Amino acid sequence: MPKTDNINSIIDHKLFTEEDIHNMCVKLGKQLTADYAGKKPLIVGALKGAIFFLTDLVREMDVKAEIDFLDVSSYGDEMESSGEVKLISDLATDVKDRDVLIVEDIVDTGLTLEYMKDLLKKRGAKSVKCCVLLNKEANRTSDVEVEYSGSKVGNEFVVGYGLDFMNYYRNLRYIGVLKPEIIKLVNNK
Ligand code: PRP
Repeated sequence: MPKTDNINSIIDHKLFTEEDIHNMCVKLGKQLTADYAGKKPLIVGALKGAIFFLTDLVREMDVKAEIDFLDVSSYGDEMESSGEVKLISDLATDVKDRDVLIVEDIVDTGLTLEYMKDLLKKRGAKSVKCCVLLNKEANRTSDVEVEYSGSKVGNEFVVGYGLDFMNYYRNLRYIGVLKPEIIKLVNNK
């Protein structure tokens, strides 16, 4: 467990334990192994939130796959999406004629995923699908399709296992819900 000085003061409760997360990765890995059998997909991780999920997920997939990363951001240090997605750093791999699987930690408004899917389709990818750990549908403004998801979540602010609060707490092994008073504190600053 990483040392986090004040973690107990910001987490309201655990939502998913390490075991819950592991079970989601195993289940998704099996599904993806079956669906991508005989293909050589390019797995695209969306930095930075997806790195923990991606590394666990791909090790549950018995598929010959390449891995690359895109850095897109719509939040910066903010609590809510700015609505404008920016490409911070691009892939090194040509996606033309590739079966691409985007891996995301969370889909909220859906704008980031929509941006990435559109970008990869425009570049000539053969197929573009997404595997997301947490599907938060309450604030969805895009009708982008989420092909694979570990679990639905409600309209709570979740942190840990890649998900951040002000860019911290990504390194928690579990996923917790942030105390509502912390969000109020930040919003009133
Ligand atoms: C988070 C998350 C998704 C996106 C989802 O990324 O990792 O990429 O927001 O939000 P949306 O569905 O409303 O677009 P963020 O921009 O915070 O960057 P990060 O992964 O570096 O934390």
